[in-house]
Amino acid sequence: MRLEGLRVLITGAASGFGEAMARRFAAEGANVVLLDICKPALDEVERSIGGTRGGTATGFECDVTDSERVHEVIATCLDEQGGIDVVVNNAGWSYRNQPLLDVDEASLRKVYEINVFAIYHMTRAIVPHWRQSGGGTMINISSTAGIRPRPGLVWYNSTKGAVNSLTQSLAAELASDNIRVCAIAPVLGRTGLTEAFLGGPETPEALARFVSTIPLGRMSTGDDVASAAAFLASPEARFLTGIIVPVDGGRCI
Ligand SMILES: NC(=O)c1ccc[n+]([C@@H]2O[C@H](COP(=O)([O-])OP(=O)(O)OC[C@H]3O[C@@H](n4cnc5c(N)ncnc54)[C@H](O)[C@@H]3O)[C@@H](O)[C@H]2O)c1
Repeated sequence: MRLEGLRVLITGAASGFGEAMARRFAAEGANVVLLDICKPALDEVERSIGGTRGGTATGFECDVTDSERVHEVIATCLDEQGGIDVVVNNAGWSYRNQPLLDVDEASLRKVYEINVFAIYHMTRAIVPHWRQSGGGTMINISSTAGIRPRPGLVWYNSTKGAVNSLTQSLAAELASDNIRVCAIAPVLGRTGLTEAFLGGPETPEALARFVSTIPLGRMSTGDDVASAAAFLASPEARFLTGIIVPVDGGRCI
């Protein structure tokens, strides 16, 4: 229960890595606020965490690209919980892996809206509160794609490059406000986005081909990502800021 009482907001918490982080944070005693655009899945995660030992879970249907809605949800959380200690910007999306010239402009705009602009909206909503309350922690879910890009996901890769750069820039500018900003860069894991990343069905052959590029010989799991996030959110990480932690079994070596 090393996160007991910590108030943690996680975007994209209805599935994949976000759901795994929500479960881990709550299991360690945090009170988690779950944001997602997909209401039925969000309700299910909120309900199932509510029935376990540990911290509380409260869900909000929220499109993280909608600045007004993000500000509204943050204001409600501050009213109801008195504050937010940690924000995990996890919601993300990719178009299907394909040659760079085939990606249309609407997909480019969508991938930037969800993966990059949403962090802008969240930052503008939460930083004034953290400046007043004496500090806070932001964790951005990036990707190995932003460190060691590969063909087929050019524009998605570039959004994660932006996430890495803005993580370091925010860390530099906000350190004097006692606000830490770190990123986690997972390698491929099995989530709602796996097929988009592979550019086709998750066949044993396609997965084996990918795993052969990971020195530790397997894909990432939600638990791997949750372990890194729980550490970065904990007091043990109090002197860490501006770092990008690959959770990748050695893929980026
Ligand atoms: N799965 C991987 O292999 C992998 C690898 C590296 C990084 N990532 C990153 O991990 C993060 C989580 O993705 P995941 O793999 O768990 O995928 P996922 O699709 O399982 O989860 C993403 C969640 O974000 C939500 N979401 C999407 N658009 C949203 C919006 N506009 N507003 C609110 N919520 C929205 C979805 O409903 C979903 O619940 C993403 O940032 C992704 O880029 C994933």
